[in-house]
Amino acid sequence: MLFKKDKGITEKKVLEALGHVDDPDLKKDLVTLGMIKDVKIDGKKVGFTVVLTTPACPMKDAIKNACINAIKLMVDMEAEVDVNMTARVVQDMNNQVLPNVKNVIAISSGKGGVGKSTVAANMAIALSQSGAKVALVDADIYGPSMPIMFGFENQRPTLENVGGRDLLVPFERHGVKLMSIGVLVKPDQAIVWRGPMASKALRQLIFDTNWGEIDYLLIDLPPGTGDIHLTLVQALPVTGAVVVTTPQKVAVADARKGADMFQLPQIQVPILGVIENMAYFVPDDMPEKKYHIFGKGGGAGLAEAIQAPLLGQIPMREQLAEKADVGTPVILGEDELVKKSFTELSQRLAQELAIRLATKPSSQKVRME
Ligand SMILES: Nc1ncnc2c1ncn2[C@@H]1O[C@H](COP(=O)(O)OP(=O)(O)O)[C@@H](O)[C@H]1O
Ligand SMILES: [Mg+2]
Repeated sequence: MLFKKDKGITEKKVLEALGHVDDPDLKKDLVTLGMIKDVKIDGKKVGFTVVLTTPACPMKDAIKNACINAIKLMVDMEAEVDVNMTARVVQDMNNQVLPNVKNVIAISSGKGGVGKSTVAANMAIALSQSGAKVALVDADIYGPSMPIMFGFENQRPTLENVGGRDLLVPFERHGVKLMSIGVLVKPDQAIVWRGPMASKALRQLIFDTNWGEIDYLLIDLPPGTGDIHLTLVQALPVTGAVVVTTPQKVAVADARKGADMFQLPQIQVPILGVIENMAYFVPDDMPEKKYHIFGKGGGAGLAEAIQAPLLGQIPMREQLAEKADVGTPVILGEDELVKKSFTELSQRLAQELAIRLATKPSSQKVRME
């Protein structure tokens, strides 16, 4: 029998070639992972969609180029390849409690003042800028700061009736949906949140807010470990926690205690990584200089000790302190160094989360009798 060699481009050949392109994080090929959709072929024109697990994927361009190269090298050197890069954030499968919220990320720190809220706010905006649907809950009973950072101080949330329930309408700023424990009391009412009251307030913020569809719900926790932390892990399956620290020894030691809580056998919230804030000072007039004012290696040391990656280092910058007080988080300003740091940080977080969802069992709510 005589076989005629098929010289044309076919879907089979395209998929075979893309079967050689691996997702660098998930370490499997794009076809096996089900990430290739809508293959279209018209003569030399080849089009398809790559569905990533997060729009904040830092490897987006590398994956796209690898796809184009695979088609050219393995199918046809003259192919005109058009790759449409999209993303669908994977849901932590056990989040039945808030089915429209795909992932819950706790932002924690051992000490106050290390920049936890600054990091949470800017990271939330960076994730939203990548195209993800993001919400941020300010659960810091000691010092709620989101109303000031996002400029909704002195504003009361409105209610809307959804299916017979009155739900809070989240504030929305810079693409991020927001709710703060600070808005549950009148601004002139100084309040010391005690255990059960704080727990009730947190539940209200999470469950009685009309969040809509959310890819990443970030929770800015109070420093240390306390009632709010326990309430959170009992109320929701937390997909992962990140720990914010500064390089100082005391901050690192306290951050370690916070991380240890998440890793207790009865809690088991995976630590997605460590963020070192105020890692070094970069003066405006000498942007190539790094001054390690608070010491060096604290974040990396903590990451190693708790066996989690160091997700990023944020420099100390004058703009960071200034912007926060006027309702415009610094990532929206002109400081390119800071913008880049937060964008990369958010990508690393999304990446770690995607790896965690692909490789580890889903998070469970913590039950305590
Ligand atoms: N990288 C940084 N560079 C300069 N100032 C910072 C930086 N990170 C945080 N700050 C400032 O430090 C103070 C504490 O930050 P904040 O985010 O409120 O800390 P936390 O939430 O941990 O208590 C704020 O005034 C904030 O603007
Ligand atoms: Mg704070």
